[in-house]
This record gives sequence, structure tokens and C-alpha cells, in this order.
Amino acid sequence: MSAGGLEGVEAPKLITELPGPKARQILERDERTTSPSLPRAYPFVPARGSGSVVEDVDGNVFLDVNAGIAVTSTGHCHPRVVEAIQRQAAELIHYSASDFYLPIYSELAERLDEIAPMSDPARSFLTNSGTEAVEAAIKLARYATRRQYVLAFYDSFHGRSYGSVSLTASKAKYRAGFGPLLPGVLHAFYGDGRDLPVPPRGDEEGFPTIDHIEGFLFEKIVPADEVAAIVVEPVLGEGGYIVPPDGWLRALRELCDRHGILLVADEVQSGMGRTGAMWAVEHMEVEPDILVAGKGIASGMPLGAMIATDRVMTWMKGAHGSTYGGNPLSCAAAIATLDVIRDEGLLENATKVGALLVNGLRDLQARQDAIREVRGLGLMIGVELPDHDRAAAVEREAFDRGLLLLGCGEASIRLSPPLVFREDQARVALGLLDEVVAATGA
Ligand SMILES: Cc1ncc(COP(=O)(O)O)c(C=O)c1O
Repeated sequence: MSAGGLEGVEAPKLITELPGPKARQILERDERTTSPSLPRAYPFVPARGSGSVVEDVDGNVFLDVNAGIAVTSTGHCHPRVVEAIQRQAAELIHYSASDFYLPIYSELAERLDEIAPMSDPARSFLTNSGTEAVEAAIKLARYATRRQYVLAFYDSFHGRSYGSVSLTASKAKYRAGFGPLLPGVLHAFYGDGRDLPVPPRGDEEGFPTIDHIEGFLFEKIVPADEVAAIVVEPVLGEGGYIVPPDGWLRALRELCDRHGILLVADEVQSGMGRTGAMWAVEHMEVEPDILVAGKGIASGMPLGAMIATDRVMTWMKGAHGSTYGGNPLSCAAAIATLDVIRDEGLLENATKVGALLVNGLRDLQARQDAIREVRGLGLMIGVELPDHDRAAAVEREAFDRGLLLLGCGEASIRLSPPLVFREDQARVALGLLDEVVAATGA
């Protein structure tokens, strides 16, 4: 079914109670047949989408401030992305780029080199998902440095396969029952150090979290010259949509340079224009050695990329590969996505509509005590609420009023709409959030 009729819609339209009758049937089948590990935030059963609007199986229309969890960067079913996928599907659906020379694979790698936030030439290894791209980064970093330790941060999320989940430290449930995890992984405190065992007094020079790595972890736990990589989300995603303080990522870059450690930026969630720049590291004027991309890279087709400078990506033939990674349909969708982001000025749109949302949310904060903090960059916006229960109640109440959003961190909700989100839609979202926060306080 095409998404015809949904274009131009700016407000939700609910015609059944939620979940509706068709949705209930699907939920019943799903609960019998699918893995109980799937987290499922609320009973939303999407059928078709266009731009920032999604219709469920019962014909209820929702405003999508999730973008399928920060994925549908150009909006749902952008005509140019659909056309690129259809054209590619009629030409060639599969040939493994691991063993042969897929033209569209190197075309995309060339496009990624053009936009990579690195001054040296960059190469790409394409995967099917974010977590696989993180795995590739861990392997490449160990291989390139011949060092074994990898440092990541508390509150970070890097995926759920064994290597990436060993880096993930946002919730214990992601690790519970799965140990032992990858050896050689250490964790440090992110950003301003609000979670440090002895919180900073606020009058020190520099960053206590960086001092803790250099003065504590590298002195007492592992020597710096055995650390291959520091893997960091330039803006924390799942862990709470937290932007580190100005200069923090640069200080981390300098720490890496002092010790010959590779800096790996995990931009699976913050990349592809979400923050109003193609990559969040650009706001921070930092060049990583390796960048990991996923989610919005192909507007919803499964694709990840591990992008590294020529100097770092030196592994030998056969060291790493993937049957499907960088499959032609996903590559076609990614190239179309890059074209749409450029031609439709989506970085500028993310900056403009993001500012409207942040300002609007700060106005709400002035009236609603429950909004403790509003933070973000571009269309990557977090709203801190008093506790986890309130955040969960807001998530559910928003759904019941036709607004799709998701929690993150301990007690926050995240706003990560498609980069095509319009100002009129942002105003509707703000109005609904105002009602939702008030209703959940009663
Ligand atoms: C920063 C970050 N890295 C990695 C991942 C894992 O990506 P995927 O779910 O595609 O495996 C995610 C997913 O949410 C993410 O937010």
C-alpha cells in the first residue's frame, strides 16, 4: 500500500481506542510467536508512513517524533529513497561485496569519504547494523594498534552483540545473564562527571572525568600503552540524550593523542545530520580515527558503516568480511539519503526545527515543574522528568494522544523526529507534550 493521503498531515488523528481491533489481533499473534526479549515500548502497530506521519493498522494517524528510533532520517518512504530501492531491486538484489566488486558499494564508500569528519582519506567497511559496525571498529582498533584494551563510558549504548554489549553500560539488563563478556573492556565516566563517585566541585581546571582516566585508570588498572581505543558517543543516545560540556571531546582527543590511542566516535544515533551537522563531532571540532554510523544512514534500510582513516584501516585481506554487509538495496537507499539531505537542506532544517522545539520545551519547562531539564543538539533532544515512572507515563500518554516518542536514560524522554520534521508539526508536538506532561502529573 502506498503512503498516499498522509502527505501534509500535521496532527494526529485517532479513530479507534488504542490498541485498535486489528492491532489487538496482531499483538496476540506476536506475543505467541516472537522472542520475548523484544523490549516493545507500547502497543503501536504501524502499517504505512510518509514523512513524519505514520498510520497504524486500524487507520489511526500518529505524529512520529521517534523516526523509528532515529532511523528514518529523510522521513518515512521518501519518494527518492523508494525510487532508488525499487530501481536497484529490479537490477541486482545481491552479490556479496566481501568477495566481489559491487559498484554501488564503492560508490557509497566514496560518498562517505567525502563527508567523513577526517582530514585524511577515509575508507569504509559496510555492515547490516550499528552493532556490527561497532564490532568491526573494536576488531580494527585492536588489529591496528596491537593493543588489547578498549575503554568505553558508563551510560553509553553501543549495541547488543557480544563485543558491543561489553562496551554498553547504560542498563544492567543488557548484560544480565550473558557473562562473561568480551575481556579487556574498561569503563570511565562521561562528560561533566555528574556520576563520578566523588562529584567534581566545579572549580577545577579541565575535566575531572578525563583526569580520572589518565590519573586513575591508566595508573592503577591498565597502562595507557596497552589501550587500543576509546569508544565514545559524541552525544549520549540511549543513555539519556546528554551533550557533554564544551571542550570535553577535544580533551578526550588530546588524551588519545598523548598515548597513541585511537578515538572511535560512535555516531550510530547522533550521525547523518541528526544534530544539524552531518556528524556530531563537527560541533566539537574533533576528528576521530574511526567513526561508526548506522540508523539514519539509509533512511530505514539495514546498513551500518565503520569508517576509518587510511592510516588506521590497514588490515589484511580476509581479516573481516560479511555476506550481506553493504547490500545493493541498502547502498542505493544510503546514496539517495545523502542526496536528499543535501538537496533538501535537511541539516539546516534539523537546526531550525530543533531550535524551535528546544525553545518551546523551555517555555513548557517554565510552566511545568515536572520538566527538569531540556537539552540537545538539532533534532536530538532530551527532556528530563522527575523519575523513571513519570517518563514511562509520558511515553504512554503521548502514544494515547497520537504522539510517538520514546524514553531514554533514567528518567528522560527523547525527541528524534525525521530530519524533514516541519515547524507546524513541531508546534503540534509541543502542544501535545504540554497536555501529556500535565495529564501525567494528576
Ligand atoms: C550509539 C549507538 N550505537 C550502536 C547502536 C546499535 O545499533 P543497532 O541497533 O543497529 O545494532 C545503537 C542503537 O541504538 C546506538 O544508539
